[in-house]
This record gives sequence, structure tokens and C-alpha cells, in this order.
Amino acid sequence: MTVSADPKELLEMATRLAAEAGRILVHERPRDLGVSATKSSPTDIVTVMDQRSEKLIVEGILAARPDDGILGEEGASRQGTSGVRWVIDPIDGTVNYLYEIPMWCVSIGVEIDGQTVAGVVEAPMLGETFTALRGHGAWRNGEPITVRGEGSDGPPLPLSGALVATGFGYAAQRRAVQGKIVAELLPLVRDIRRAGSAALDLCSVACGRVDAYYERGTNAWDIAAGALIVEEAGGKVGGLRGAAASVEMTVAAAGGLYEGLCGFLEGRSADQDS
Ligand code: IPD
Repeated sequence: MTVSADPKELLEMATRLAAEAGRILVHERPRDLGVSATKSSPTDIVTVMDQRSEKLIVEGILAARPDDGILGEEGASRQGTSGVRWVIDPIDGTVNYLYEIPMWCVSIGVEIDGQTVAGVVEAPMLGETFTALRGHGAWRNGEPITVRGEGSDGPPLPLSGALVATGFGYAAQRRAVQGKIVAELLPLVRDIRRAGSAALDLCSVACGRVDAYYERGTNAWDIAAGALIVEEAGGKVGGLRGAAASVEMTVAAAGGLYEGLCGFLEGRSADQDS
């Protein structure tokens, strides 16, 4: 059987799998859901539902495309031979999910030869499905989205007018540094938001619900889909000093604001832990 790698078909499949995972996460959540394991620190948790969501998505991929590679937050990892790789966060915002705070999602990015070509972020409790296809745009529930200020003729938004989302890592030492940096940023901006899901933070930039987002310590599965959604919505995504977005630092914003936020973060070596 010839298995195609048409980005549009990959997006359709990712969207279907994310919706199926979203459905079991909403409807099959056990009443007594607890923490089944911890990972990098006692605050970095896994629930049975993270594992079930990842299993459902991985089984769906392998049934249709057995030669593809996979990288999943809860341990799914296979090389693949087709050039296509699926980067999966089965619940982004697991702490929110545990506490029944609606800001959580299923995130799936699809790469061909190392470049993300399609992405979906499914947020069932918000009734929002964000999607993007490289070169074709980004959508929320099928409607095109753009970052705030994109397309306006005015000057770029200054940092002082920006609503900035951020997140904190799981290690205490890293959090201590992140706390100092956000304390310095807070008087310089409109306000700060900490929603608890990196993928949704990126989608919030993409649809203009916040102006910018930055975080140190995000993994590939946190940002694979959301970064493409921001770029296809007209925003910029990267790291500091011209680097690509990575576990060291991810910054996302509309053009002019992006440079200003990177400048602030570079001045404080925000991509380091001390
Ligand atoms: C976490 C969330 C959180 C961010 C952390 C991520 P998880 O993902 O996205 O907002 O601050 O960096 O690890 O653990 O819930 O999948």
C-alpha cells in the first residue's frame, strides 16, 4: 500500500485523532482521577488519562501509517522510515486537567523531513479546535485567525501595551529564576497571564487573545503544533539571539513586539537557569 504524505490529509487525520482523544478525556475521565506518576520533579505529573490519550492517538497513527515516526510526551517514540513524524502532547496542561480547570488541550504536530507542516490543538472544554497548514494559514473552528495587530498600518505594539503569557518549569531552581524575570517584566507590560498550557498559550497569541508568550523549558511536544499555528497566523516564533524555538526558550508574538520581548529576555539571560 502506498501511503501518501499530503499535508492536508495529515492535518485531517491529526484533527480527527485529537478530537477522539478529546472526547475520551472529557467523557471517560474517572471520578477519582489522581496522579499516577511523576516525571522530572514532584510537580511534573502524569495521569492515567495522559497515557490513554497518547495510546489512542498512537494506535490510530500506526493503524493507518505504520512507517511513520512518533514522539509522544508519555514515552511513545519510534524512528519511522516514511519521513513523517508525529509530535504528540496527549494532554498539554495536565495540572489544569487534574484540577478541572478548562485550559487544557491535545496537541499534535506533523513533520515531514523535520519541518512541521500541519498542527492541531484541540481544547474540548473551550470548544476550540486550532489548526494550521504550512503555507495555507491558521484557523480556529475553521475560521481564519491572525495575531493581534497583524495587517494594521500603525506602529508595532510597544512592550508597555502588551498582554504577555508565560509559563514556569517544574524544577524549583528554574522557577526561582523565572520568578525574578517575570517580576522585572510585570511593571513594563500591560499584564501577565499564566494559563497552564503552552500549546494554548501559543494559540492565544495566534488568535489575538494575548499579545505575546515566552517560556523556558518547553519540550517539542508542547510547541510543535502551536508554533506553526502562530506562524501561519502571521506571528513570529523563535528563541533568543536568533536561535530557533527550543527547550532553552520559546518566544511568540507579532513582528515588532517580538523583537522588543526578545531584547528584554536577552538582557536578563532568560534562556539560562542562573
Ligand atoms: C506543561 C504546560 C505548562 C508549561 C509547562 C509544560 P504538560 O505541559 O504546557 O503550561 O508551563 O512548561 O510542561 O506537562 O501539562 O504537558
